[in-house]
Amino acid sequence: MERVSDLLVVADQAAIAQEAAKRVVAIAQEAVARCGRFTVALAGGSTPKRLYSLLADEPYRTRLPWRETHLFWGDERAVPPEHPESNFGMAKESLLSRVPIPANQVHRMQAERADLDEAAGEYQAEIAKTFAAQPSDKPPAFDLILLGLGPDGHTASLFPYTRALREISRWVAPNYIPTLKANRLTFTTSILNRATTILFLVSGIEKAAALQVVLEGPPAPERLPAQLIRPIAGRLVWLVDQAAASRLGDRIP
Ligand code: 6PG
Repeated sequence: MERVSDLLVVADQAAIAQEAAKRVVAIAQEAVARCGRFTVALAGGSTPKRLYSLLADEPYRTRLPWRETHLFWGDERAVPPEHPESNFGMAKESLLSRVPIPANQVHRMQAERADLDEAAGEYQAEIAKTFAAQPSDKPPAFDLILLGLGPDGHTASLFPYTRALREISRWVAPNYIPTLKANRLTFTTSILNRATTILFLVSGIEKAAALQVVLEGPPAPERLPAQLIRPIAGRLVWLVDQAAASRLGDRIP
């Protein structure tokens, strides 16, 4: 099936948040109208924080169907939820503590656990249960997965030359990141590429080089894991600001 890919360049990070908020609401309302539920996996890092804060404010707060929403994370750092680097912690502060989403519909990745293999398997089972699927089935299709892009071309916690890049059956996997000397839990491409919509949020001049080679450079997915994100039947949307887009169209050295 033809994969749809859109690139939308907006002024700045505030404009990314506004445009993304509109799209999240539209996707959520359509999903609930279609199947009575909205499933979304949040991105970590700093870029999405503004979006999450917006979704907790009017008019978006009222427009989002929180009672029918199931929130997951596409990746998490190996830290407890109250740690300043926790993706869950960031979302809790900017969003979860301010909206009426039922607590049992907030599915935190427990990446602080000692046994990350077990934690990954349990998270996969939790995803399966939400979708009334079996963990042994092929991955379910999230209505929306939010992703960011690192300056090294990583996305979620799929970092260059790491083992999880080659995981094709597990939906969620532990991943050791040598450059960070840190463990992570991450969605793998098997579940990422089944999403109905993948929305990348990319802001800032420090992402310009990575964005250019990911989008316009030759295929090099081990070095540029974001190139692995190719929805099988879904829509791929890159929502970027002018600074991040400033190298697009330049000759690649
Ligand atoms: C994480 C993210 C990661 C992030 C990029 C961009 O846990 O760090 O999931 O993939 O999206 O590193 O991060 P910024 O938005 O902070 O630039």
